[in-house]
Amino acid sequence: MRKKVDFLVLGSGIAGLSYALKVADYGKVLVIAKGKLDETATRYAQGGIAAVTYNPDNFEKHIRDTIDAGDKLSDDDIVKMTIYEAPERIRELVHWGVRFDRNTDGLYELGREGGHSEKRVLHHKDRTGFEIQQALLNASRMHPNIEVAEGHFSVDIITQHHLGMKVTRRTPEVTCYGAYILNPEQRKVYTVLARCTMLATGGAGNIYSSTTNPLINTGDGVAMLYRAKGAVEKMEFVQFHPTSLYNPGETPSFLITEALRGFGAILRSKKGEAFMENYDKRGSLAPRDIVARAIDNEMKISGDDHVCLDCTHLNKNELINHFPGIYAKCMSINIDITKEMIPVVPAAHYMVGGIRVDEYARTSIQNLFASGETASTGLHGANRLASNSLLESLVFSHRASLKAIEKVRKVKLKEEIPDWDDKGTTLNEEMVLITQSTKELQSIMSNYVGIVRSDLRLKRAFDRLRIIYNETEDLYEKSVLSVEICELRNMINVAYLVIKMAMQRKESRGLHYSIDYPKENR
Ligand code: FAD
Ligand code: SIN
Repeated sequence: MRKKVDFLVLGSGIAGLSYALKVADYGKVLVIAKGKLDETATRYAQGGIAAVTYNPDNFEKHIRDTIDAGDKLSDDDIVKMTIYEAPERIRELVHWGVRFDRNTDGLYELGREGGHSEKRVLHHKDRTGFEIQQALLNASRMHPNIEVAEGHFSVDIITQHHLGMKVTRRTPEVTCYGAYILNPEQRKVYTVLARCTMLATGGAGNIYSSTTNPLINTGDGVAMLYRAKGAVEKMEFVQFHPTSLYNPGETPSFLITEALRGFGAILRSKKGEAFMENYDKRGSLAPRDIVARAIDNEMKISGDDHVCLDCTHLNKNELINHFPGIYAKCMSINIDITKEMIPVVPAAHYMVGGIRVDEYARTSIQNLFASGETASTGLHGANRLASNSLLESLVFSHRASLKAIEKVRKVKLKEEIPDWDDKGTTLNEEMVLITQSTKELQSIMSNYVGIVRSDLRLKRAFDRLRIIYNETEDLYEKSVLSVEICELRNMINVAYLVIKMAMQRKESRGLHYSIDYPKENR
């Protein structure tokens, strides 16, 4: 089966939908999501979206905080561009129906998070992502040019390779002609030909055993792009959120927003001792890399399986009013946050690196854009400042839309692309092979490629991963396609890139901390 569209959008989170809404007046748009349309990391965002709104904040401060958090590895021009464009992108979100919290004077109520020198985080209680996701979905559903297909899995982007040409990382002008999409219910792969394609497939937290990311975040965009010989960068920088709820067995881990620390909550050991001042003068509100490492260290020294976040000194009514989601979640496991400390542990949260893009979200492959968590724009450097991710998605999807609109009439559909070839494959009944390899992969990454690394741990991870890689490629060659085997293959690919780039970085920088190259805390 074949389909032809002007704009193909892989992903229905903030990056995919905000782009779709912008290009939809210029052609037919197809948005694909592998799960339910609203099952995205976007939906679970809590803290909010950072942008300069009122005095005493200003652009210079937001720029400086972003560059400092990024351990000086950010691209300064990209940081400036993103932060200057933020207020306009926020106005668009409001136009699409997002309701940010306001105070009694009608002014936006701004939150504060780690690494921010001012209050600047716009939010909707502790459910900002849900509010954004619903508003974007509603607007998309109303647009006559946008078709959405949930429960469809993008397997590979289509390039000259599928016309039988040899494509290497040195081939000039590798070009994207669309994507092969699996309908898992029918077990059929169909061909979508597109003039412009957008990869907005989100992060890859599920390469770790413990993550705040929903199950859909398996790094598919990075893996598809890498297989197509595109450029990927900075994969060694994996952000661990310092405070996910310690609730063994729960997947994904429930996030306890950093905004709670911005509101006055304090990190303490199980015994009740505040420890963050020993690591950084900003205490519980230091940037995430520092806080996550401090917690990791405290847990190793004490042997405890978690630390605690203390809100018990905060005004009860205000606490519940600002953080109703966290209050309700903790109550559901019998923790009253107004009276008891919340048990927390770090969990894999965000991929800083990804598909290398320029200032218009163009990848190294022609007619292919990438935005959102799957992309590496240069904004975050070696560590992302809290609440800069939703902002980055909006800014780069907007900029991608400008170039895609310019391009769309000039690009011809590549009619001669062949349909997916599944000759010689048989149904794989041994799902246990896939689930077990997924667990092994997650355990390798969590044990050897976590918050603190070493050359020896990375080498061990690399050697272990190679075994799973060989077994999985063998299985893939023989199996009729399934979402599970594709995801495993993609996660192995992403894990390989994380380990390889971590091995190449012979220093401790931002989120990549190695005991072999120690560095004083900033
Ligand atoms: P997602 O929102 O993850 O969407 C990915 C989409 O791609 C989905 O529709 C999925 O179905 C689709 N997809 C993936 N693979 C395929 C495939 N193979 N085929 C078809 N479709 C596919 N950032 C902030 O700035 N502020 C916050 O407060 C904040 N809080 C967060 C809280 C949590 C719990 C988490 C997990 C993240 C948080 N982040 C926050 C980070 C931010 O939410 C994400 O980085 C951002 O939402 C990513 O958006 P996205 O559009 O790139 O991807
Ligand atoms: C949070 O609310 O703590 C998450 C914010 C983010 O990931 O930017």
